[in-house]
Amino acid sequence: MKTDFQTLKELHEYYAVNNRCGLRKIATQPVYEIIPPTSGIVFIGEAPGKNEDLQGKPFVGAAGKFLNQLLESIGFTREDVYVSNTVKYRPPENREPTDEEKNSCRVWLNAELMFIKPKILIPLGRHAFERFVPGAKISASHGLPFEHPSGIPVFAMYHPAVALYNPNLRDVLKEDFAKLKDYLDNGGELNKNEIPESTAFSKSKKKDIDDILSM
Ligand code: URA
Repeated sequence: MKTDFQTLKELHEYYAVNNRCGLRKIATQPVYEIIPPTSGIVFIGEAPGKNEDLQGKPFVGAAGKFLNQLLESIGFTREDVYVSNTVKYRPPENREPTDEEKNSCRVWLNAELMFIKPKILIPLGRHAFERFVPGAKISASHGLPFEHPSGIPVFAMYHPAVALYNPNLRDVLKEDFAKLKDYLDNGGELNKNEIPESTAFSKSKKKDIDDILSM
């Protein structure tokens, strides 16, 4: 995996050419941000939608507006954090990304994370959560921090888009963002949850961040 980039822009431009994602042929463009976060906070969504595909930027549609509100509710702006996606291209008709599509963007996301060296990872929804805490369910894990073998805490969060279809989850997301703020304010020391024993990650020895994120 190539990782010797000077800037995130350079990294994204490299992987936009060097990837095997089948969506590349049908999407308008890859979707990514190019400014590393001053806060070290990284959110990871599922895959771009229509607006993101047109603008080339993650979370700029309805789910993105709600994400911005949630961030503001805990004192952050969108510029303070970094937002990425498990898959960099829009799946047609906004369908869920397939395993093959997620796998073909995996190296790209890994390289991105190695470049940024996040302080905390916040997967938004099932697809991103499974990538970092395999075997755990988002419905039982949202609002909780997990230990990742890289040493980077993973804070599970529902995807903001769920609140657009299920208004009850709007309040759940607001509460989980308040828990995230408590977690950050307490230096990330609140009740860390171990990754389930049955997963591949928990069996691996804690190694170098680069090795682990590239799994
Ligand atoms: N949903 C996502 O998962 N990612 C985006 O960029 C937009 C909506």
